Amino acid sequence: MYLNFAGNFMNLNRTKVAFGEAQAPKYHQPALITYPPGSGNHFFRNDLDWNKLGEIITERFSGSGAKILIHGCSDGAEYYSLNLLLERIYGRKKAKELFSFTCKDIREEVIEKAQKGLIVVQPTEVSLIKGYLIAGPDSKARFQTHDMSIVRGMTSRKADPDLVARANFRQGDFMEDVKEKIDADMIFVRNSFIYMEDDGKKIPKSCLISLYENVNPGALLIVGGLEYGDKEKYEDGQPTVNQLINAGFRAVEDEQGNIVECIFEKPS
Ligand SMILES: C[S@@+](CC[C@H](N)C(=O)[O-])C[C@H]1O[C@@H](n2cnc3c(N)ncnc32)[C@H](O)[C@@H]1O
Repeated sequence: MYLNFAGNFMNLNRTKVAFGEAQAPKYHQPALITYPPGSGNHFFRNDLDWNKLGEIITERFSGSGAKILIHGCSDGAEYYSLNLLLERIYGRKKAKELFSFTCKDIREEVIEKAQKGLIVVQPTEVSLIKGYLIAGPDSKARFQTHDMSIVRGMTSRKADPDLVARANFRQGDFMEDVKEKIDADMIFVRNSFIYMEDDGKKIPKSCLISLYENVNPGALLIVGGLEYGDKEKYEDGQPTVNQLINAGFRAVEDEQGNIVECIFEKPS
């Protein structure tokens, strides 16, 4: 099944993925993916092959369903994208039966907004999330990101309360969560690791090792384009992805043996 998210993937400029001293797998680059991702949190943010993710989910979780944990969820754009993807594949009723969501972010004010269903939407994104919004645009909306930059010129809208409630938005620190067992079949930590670094360079190795140890065998870890290395920030070319691989995570491959970017697993 190939779903069409055309319209959100207009910027097809790609930079080469650097792999430092870790394994250098033959990454294929589906046309949809850009590195690094465009700024801001967007529906179907273009650093992930959402179609491929849909195929993998269908193959792995159609029978069992899955508990999904999204860390660094921000205003929830990622959750809404994923839920929409699952609803397109399974229909709303079945998707609801099969998948549960916990969405966390360290910032309380972000979570408060997410719990109210306030979501920042770009004009080009509105058509992608038809049926998900109940209220019109708030032209005074501002959205403050973790690094304090303010994204202006976007509109804030209100999401369908049923979908908001289903997300279970909660404040939480990923760095603390990894110290305990993580009961999830899919964990999304996308474009968030760079905000958790302790030495100005990269996420502590110990944190990724704890993540590996505490996640269920067979669980999928979905990361973002920034985890492949922000050239300006990582002068030593040490993307977080290398550290994930060194911690034990395996890059997921498709049927042709090509590695699917941004999708890793803890082998069962
Ligand atoms: C750039 S946003 C990424 C949003 C979304 N995952 C995406 O890719 O579009 C990074 C988010 O990570 C959150 N964050 C930073 N440190 C965190 C931590 N230790 N635990 C959980 N969330 C964190 C920030 O508050 C921010 O909302």
